[in-house]
Amino acid sequence: MDMACFPLLILLLLSSPCQSNDQLKQGNPLSPGDLLISEGGDFALGFFSPDASNKSLYIGIWYHNIPEPQRKVIWVANRDSPVTSPSSAKLSVTKNPELVLSDSQGSPLWATKNDAASGGARAFAVLRSTGNFVLQLPNGTEVWQSFDHPTDTILPGMKVLLSSKAQGATRFFAWKDLNDPSIGNLYGGVDPNSNLQFLIWNGTAPYCRTTVFNDITQSSSTYHSNGTSVLYQELVYIGNELYYMYYVSTGSPYTRVTLDYTGKMKLVSWNSNMSSWAVITESPGSHCDTYAACGPFGYCDHTSGGVPTCQCIDGFERVDEHNITRGCQRKEVLECRKGNHFVTLPGMKVPDKFLRISNTSFDQCAYMCNQNCLCVAYAYANISDATGSMIDTSRCLVWTGDLVDMGKSDVEENLYLRLADSPGKQKKKKAQERMMQEYLSSMDGVVDKNIEFPFISFEDIILATDNFSDSNILGKGGFGKVYKGMLEGTNEVAIKRLGKGSGQGTDEFRNEVVLIVKLQHKNLVKLLGCCIHEDERLLIYEYLPNKSLDYFLFDSARKSMLQWTTRSKIIQGVARGIMYLHQDSRLTIIHRDIKASNILLDKEMSPKISDFGMARIFCSDQHQANTNRVVGTYGYMSPEYAMEGAFSVKSDTYSFGVLLLEIVSGLKISSPHRITDFPNLIVYAWNSWKDRKTEDLVDLSVKENCPLDEVSRCIHIGLLCVQDSPDCRPLMAEVVSMLENKTIQLPTPTCPVYFASRDAETGRDGNSRFRLMACGATRTLRRFAPTGCQRSAPTASADRRLRNP
Ligand SMILES: *[C@@H]1O[C@H](CO)[C@@H](O)[C@H](O)[C@H]1NC(C)=O
Ligand SMILES: *[C@@H]1O[C@H](CO)[C@@H](O)[C@H](O)[C@H]1NC(C)=O
Ligand SMILES: *[C@@H]1O[C@H](CO)[C@@H](O)[C@H](O)[C@H]1NC(C)=O
Ligand SMILES: *[C@@H]1O[C@H](CO)[C@@H](O)[C@H](O)[C@H]1NC(C)=O
Ligand SMILES: *[C@@H]1O[C@H](CO)[C@@H](O)[C@H](O)[C@H]1NC(C)=O
Ligand SMILES: *[C@@H]1O[C@H](CO)[C@@H](O)[C@H](O)[C@H]1NC(C)=O
Ligand SMILES: *[C@@H]1O[C@H](CO)[C@@H](O)[C@H](O)[C@H]1NC(C)=O
Ligand SMILES: *[C@@H]1O[C@H](CO)[C@@H](O)[C@H](O)[C@H]1NC(C)=O
Ligand SMILES: *[C@@H]1O[C@H](CO)[C@@H](O)[C@H](O)[C@H]1NC(C)=O
Ligand SMILES: *[C@@H]1O[C@H](CO)[C@@H](O)[C@H](O)[C@H]1NC(C)=O
Ligand SMILES: *[C@@H]1O[C@H](CO)[C@@H](O)[C@H](O)[C@H]1NC(C)=O
Repeated sequence: MDMACFPLLILLLLSSPCQSNDQLKQGNPLSPGDLLISEGGDFALGFFSPDASNKSLYIGIWYHNIPEPQRKVIWVANRDSPVTSPSSAKLSVTKNPELVLSDSQGSPLWATKNDAASGGARAFAVLRSTGNFVLQLPNGTEVWQSFDHPTDTILPGMKVLLSSKAQGATRFFAWKDLNDPSIGNLYGGVDPNSNLQFLIWNGTAPYCRTTVFNDITQSSSTYHSNGTSVLYQELVYIGNELYYMYYVSTGSPYTRVTLDYTGKMKLVSWNSNMSSWAVITESPGSHCDTYAACGPFGYCDHTSGGVPTCQCIDGFERVDEHNITRGCQRKEVLECRKGNHFVTLPGMKVPDKFLRISNTSFDQCAYMCNQNCLCVAYAYANISDATGSMIDTSRCLVWTGDLVDMGKSDVEENLYLRLADSPGKQKKKKAQERMMQEYLSSMDGVVDKNIEFPFISFEDIILATDNFSDSNILGKGGFGKVYKGMLEGTNEVAIKRLGKGSGQGTDEFRNEVVLIVKLQHKNLVKLLGCCIHEDERLLIYEYLPNKSLDYFLFDSARKSMLQWTTRSKIIQGVARGIMYLHQDSRLTIIHRDIKASNILLDKEMSPKISDFGMARIFCSDQHQANTNRVVGTYGYMSPEYAMEGAFSVKSDTYSFGVLLLEIVSGLKISSPHRITDFPNLIVYAWNSWKDRKTEDLVDLSVKENCPLDEVSRCIHIGLLCVQDSPDCRPLMAEVVSMLENKTIQLPTPTCPVYFASRDAETGRDGNSRFRLMACGATRTLRRFAPTGCQRSAPTASADRRLRNP
């Protein structure tokens, strides 16, 4: 024999004798009893009946080498339309080309769809050694393949399109029952909301959920079945399409992933020694792994080594010891604030119901969650993308509601959870709060002792103001400094820090807290809370963006921003605010320090009276009080108060009159040098009015665009308020009426009195004395006898009890 022919002979022997039976050709359909066997003999395709007692027939693919009852059908064509009369059923390749299953009547029970391919004259179907049944053209073009239409099983090498923009998500439907391949309630697939996790549903309810995909473009793991095998998995984003694929190392036994009729997704491997399928992994692995089994804020713990059990995440405790599904609740109530801390929970299967924030770095992700009070937790991953086709590889997940369906194992994923302050800090806060309550209730006076008052902790104030950083200072005064701050995540507040340790600061603090907490009026600044910490006294107010009246009024450039309509609105608002203090609130309150810098402006430039540190409460039968400590601001102080310490609601009327004249003129009471020919603003106003030249007084920056009669009326009212005798001055209720009702006749003002602070002398009792000036003439008087003054007609709302008979 010619040695050269020998190899050729072997080739012929290998290829020639066996009639190929892995192909289905046109004109040669498959009937019940016929089989296609894949090359190598691993898989078979044919008609089968899952239940011996039921003659229904299905076309399926199964492991050819595995005997019943372990043989497993891995694909079914006509799962919802079984052949019931087997006699003439057949599966054929048509010329379209299509695969068609027809019964005795010749009507199709099942068919592949072919919209694209043509030239099917010699098309055929082949069962490949991978278990893929492929309809193809002679030149190799694949028209259809079973791997693109999986039923309940994923085989190695099967490239599964999990989701795509065009086709939606692929679903794996479990058999309805052990012996019933029809579509059941249980199915698996990618979560269509996120494309980031795999879920098993029971009907519409989630039944089991995988971890959220993070870094697994490729991963490998080993498993033991019949020997050691390696499993390679791939999750690939290609454009908008997400694919899953796995392989096993060569020589590995049969391996498959199947969603079985009990709802378990299993990776199993054939163990020929044991003649059984060995379960390598399954999901859910235990009851604890089923969806939300541990309730809100609970997780299934796989780290103990034993049977997984439900646990509560850090900072949480069981709602109900006897019913795990009720989940967990916070040990410390979470009050959202900038200083909340986040704890890192490692090894987490992160919860469901997340929101993905696109295109973010880890820091941005953390920051966004921190800044939003609704954000309970976040997790971040950088999805590695070997193909480079993913537009956004950042995976920032945030949660705003209950955290459900968590697990803990050895996965590489951290969950960052928002927790309330530490217990130590909470305790400290409670102590501070109690101290505050005791402090307030120890105070005497007419104030309600059971005062409910929002207490804000010193730590939160430190955070809100960046530890009282200079860049947050809004203003300074004798009392201390005012800072801008951010409390509770988003609210801007103004924080007044009273002079440390000074007795005066403490008095002012008391006053302010007890007074203003009870007051509610749109023209009074709102107190939001307070804080006592060691020798610190802090008051927290609503933040008003437009600073105070003096900031605009006495600045040559900014005063033009206050046109007459705004000034008129401010005058009326301040008058209403003082009227409320005097008679509309439950108490009669004398502010004692009405002045331009204490009038704050909101974003609509409406006035809000602030600073109640010097205010005094009058009981209902009290009209006047005397004090040895004259406090207030020179220029705005009424003569009887500056001279004798006597104050009443009429001292506020006087201060308001001065303020009104300032607003009209844009001149400061305390800087007389700016007025030529007159010692001060009051005398100037009086003389203008007397000489019927009130327009001279009007601020040049509003003069052009204002109704002079209205301005003139305002000046007239201002002069009534600064009259020498308190009895002659109108009540604020009357002032409000006069301002708002132009038909009210104004009485004629008497000559005002002012005092010259520069000539102040100190008397024997330590109090300052002033030389009083009246209409330019010097008088030294202890007390003015009421000179004749014209009373305005009392208004209906005027409070008579405050008027001397
Ligand atoms: C056989 O199975 C099919 C599909 O599950 C079912 O519709 C039919 O009623 C069954 N027939 C018998 C005789 O059990
Ligand atoms: C295969 O044949 C079909 C039909 O003739 C044709 O449309 C297709 O382009 C061919 N494909 C290749 C790869 O030759
Ligand atoms: C299977 O049997 C072979 C030989 O009998 C043995 O070497 C091997 O360890 C067995 N494998 C398993 C997984 O039991
Ligand atoms: C099982 O393992 C044995 C020994 O390692 C090997 O001979 C046999 O081929 C394996 N069976 C399968 C199905 O891989
Ligand atoms: C699926 O839901 C049905 C109806 O609610 C229930 O009877 C069945 O037990 C559920 N299946 C699983 C696997 O939980
Ligand atoms: C446990 O709690 C769940 C959810 O609140 C409730 O549906 C269930 O009936 C409770 N089970 C028992 C035994 O109380
Ligand atoms: C992502 O953010 C970067 C910088 O923050 C920006 O340049 C880029 O355009 C963003 N990409 C998308 C898709 O939004
Ligand atoms: C994410 O991956 C990109 C590219 O690999 C890298 O530049 C970036 O630093 C990563 N970011 C994080 C937070 O790991
Ligand atoms: C705040 O500043 C003070 C002094 O300026 C410093 O002693 C203190 O440690 C700071 N506190 C914090 C929380 O930074
Ligand atoms: C007042 O504040 C609002 C809001 O900050 C602002 O839009 C407006 O310009 C301010 N008005 C003046 C006069 O500054
Ligand atoms: C304005 O005052 C007049 C005169 O005192 C009075 O008759 C009228 O009712 C008042 N108008 C309003 C709206 O209060």
